[in-house]
Amino acid sequence: MSESDDTVLLVDDNPTNLEVLYQTLDGQGYRLLAARGGEAALAIIHETNPTLILLDIMMPGMDGFQVCERLKSNPKTADIAVIFLSALGDTDTKVKGFELGAVDYISKPFQAAEIVARVATHVKIRRLERQLSHRNIELEREITRILATMQEGVFGVDINARITYANRAAAQLSGWGQDELVGQAALTTQLRAADGSPRSTQSVPYRQVFGEGRRIELECETIWRKDQSQFRASLNCTPVLERGQVRGAVIVFRDITQRLQAELELQETRMELQKQRQRLAHIERLSTMGEMAAGFAHEVNQPLTAIANYASVSRRLAEKEPIEREKLDSALEKMQTQALRASEVIQRLRSFVRKPKTGREMRDPNAVVEEVIALAEVDSRYNRVPIHFTPGVNGVQVCIDDVQIQQVLLNLVRNAMEAMGATPYRDEGVNITSCSPAPGVVRFSVVDHGEGLADDAEDRLFHPFYTTKDDGMGIGLSVCATIMQDHGGEIGFRRNENGGATFFIDLAAKPCPDTDSVTPGQ
Ligand SMILES: Nc1ncnc2c1ncn2[C@@H]1O[C@H](COP(=O)(O)OP(=O)(O)O)[C@@H](O)[C@H]1O
Ligand SMILES: [Mg+2]
Repeated sequence: MSESDDTVLLVDDNPTNLEVLYQTLDGQGYRLLAARGGEAALAIIHETNPTLILLDIMMPGMDGFQVCERLKSNPKTADIAVIFLSALGDTDTKVKGFELGAVDYISKPFQAAEIVARVATHVKIRRLERQLSHRNIELEREITRILATMQEGVFGVDINARITYANRAAAQLSGWGQDELVGQAALTTQLRAADGSPRSTQSVPYRQVFGEGRRIELECETIWRKDQSQFRASLNCTPVLERGQVRGAVIVFRDITQRLQAELELQETRMELQKQRQRLAHIERLSTMGEMAAGFAHEVNQPLTAIANYASVSRRLAEKEPIEREKLDSALEKMQTQALRASEVIQRLRSFVRKPKTGREMRDPNAVVEEVIALAEVDSRYNRVPIHFTPGVNGVQVCIDDVQIQQVLLNLVRNAMEAMGATPYRDEGVNITSCSPAPGVVRFSVVDHGEGLADDAEDRLFHPFYTTKDDGMGIGLSVCATIMQDHGGEIGFRRNENGGATFFIDLAAKPCPDTDSVTPGQ
């Protein structure tokens, strides 16, 4: 803006004074206009909208004060800078001038330099004020544009949480008109608690904002629409502070119905996946049992044959007269023992193939290994690969689904036996150990001296259907991995220096109620 854009109006009833003022300011870069009375001045002002007026107070007809009052009461002219000129030097007059909205006061007789300096200062101030308000308007437009395009609803609220501003999205989301929202109590109308009860600026959690001046974020709130329907929203409420005092707040909220729906669906999918995994694990157990069936049939057949033999012995003894009571008792007892042996084998099988229970229980990890060895024993004899167990932790418990962890260990043991079957080291057997590699962790390792792992084992071992065996299914290790994941545990392996592989699983361990702690060792 160039200096000549500024118009300065000189108002005085005395032509000599007007002349002096004109001479003084001429050539200073202003457009100069002159009026010889109040009415004339007002007419010029409405036409030219000057930046500044040098206004004489004492004039016939409308005096300077009246002119000033008229200017200030009209919004179009209210921001024109008025400097009063008068011979009246008393304080009351000056005070009245300032009360009417004048920016300055110059006493007659004039000092030319003073007039030039004061006019220059006030023209400059006016110009800066204009620039500032122009910039403010631009900024406000920008903010309004941003607020209008935001997807989040925005409420500006006062200290009583009454809405002073609502953006377009707030209106759309809440079903109220933007103007209707202004003046409403946000916490009793729109942002009620999930059960529908109204909140206040002093209720939890808003007390933090309005009482303590702290920002809050609420993950899942209920927003009530105009038609009394509701939706779930995440919301944050930021206090607006002025000189350290809370003056109000800005509330930004977002409809999370779709997100919640997606989360719910994801949750359902996860549960479905979990069920499928359990089904797969169960099928894998059944198939393992199928593979071990011949051995178990043999295992049950032995006591059944013995029972049949003892039964015919008993019958013969029973037919004899007199009955040899002792021999008969002994045969019956042996029959009973054999029957129990058969039923134990069947019991072991049944408990292994049963559907997984829901829920886990605290178990002694070493006892779980013993059960696995009992299950694998028949296989071990058939394949002529012995199984050894060296327990390294005592006095701890693991929280597990024991059938599932048995399945993991059984898979590892059977893989180890299979890897050793065609090697000269089968007599060394499979070695199972338990140890505690870190406080609160129990590690079971299954060590073999078998054919070892393929070079690409790292990438493929735990993938379903990866197998190097002619009759392999390739799902054993993948099932092991999901079971361990479900247990929050780990499964891993390494290649042994002298050949063969070691597979290990880690489980979180707690000390038994009557012992101190799990100590690392071994
Ligand atoms: N102890 C082991 N030594 C060598 N290779 C192993 C061992 N355990 C697993 N593997 C390899 O991992 C593959 C996948 O094992 P698994 O998932 O149990 O399926 P499967 O036993 O039916 O092949 C096996 O085919 C074998 O190549
Ligand atoms: Mg296997």
